[in-house]
Amino acid sequence: MEIIVVKDYLAVSRLAATLLARQIKAKPDSVLGLPTGRTPEAMYKKLVELFSKGVLTFDQVCTFNLDDYVGLDQSHPDSYYSYMKKNLFSLVNLRAENIYFPNGDSADLADECADYERSIDSVGGIDLLILGIGHNGHLGFCEPGTSFASKTHLVDLSEDTRTINKELMSELNEVPERAISMGIGTMLKARSIILLASGSSKRDALKAALSGPVTESVPASVLQTHPDVIVIMDDAASLD
Ligand code: PGA
Repeated sequence: MEIIVVKDYLAVSRLAATLLARQIKAKPDSVLGLPTGRTPEAMYKKLVELFSKGVLTFDQVCTFNLDDYVGLDQSHPDSYYSYMKKNLFSLVNLRAENIYFPNGDSADLADECADYERSIDSVGGIDLLILGIGHNGHLGFCEPGTSFASKTHLVDLSEDTRTINKELMSELNEVPERAISMGIGTMLKARSIILLASGSSKRDALKAALSGPVTESVPASVLQTHPDVIVIMDDAASLD
């Protein structure tokens, strides 16, 4: 695992976008795993800038998002699909057929989860997975206690996560109770992983994940077992 500490949030975002762009240039048909949340916003902005300047194309890129809420139509403003549309999908030349998303509004959620796994396998797996980390060490919506062998599955969101995510809701007063999340086992199959973290509120989770025991009670600690992980954090999040 390589840990890179940079000055601030913008530097985290710039470096993440640079590494992502490098991946796409080296393999134009890269399969990316992508997060939502506050942390990746500036990274997406930087990627859109690179696309607008004509130095990066997403023409052959394929994307899989980590998660979405159950019960929200993708067009709902609080869905993670809407977040991605606003921050990336509508601003670059990704092809609609290359954008994969777990549909939390599916009539058959178990089938939707199995289908998502099959879709990932059908394109040869994820080349580069970008992750954020929750205050409780979660990855995607895989909350503490999630099996390291888990595949895409239904999740009961923790009260912690629901409270923190409430600030991000534009229309809903309550955060949905359930979500679909890529599993930890699914994430571990990605060939490379980049974990992003910014701000002092992530310090404890990072410390437990990077220097504590590998345990299912801290989902991000599983990254210690993956052969190709880069952690990019800012000074405020850093362990020292
Ligand atoms: P954040 O979320 O980027 O909004 O802090 C990260 C996460 O919960 O995984």
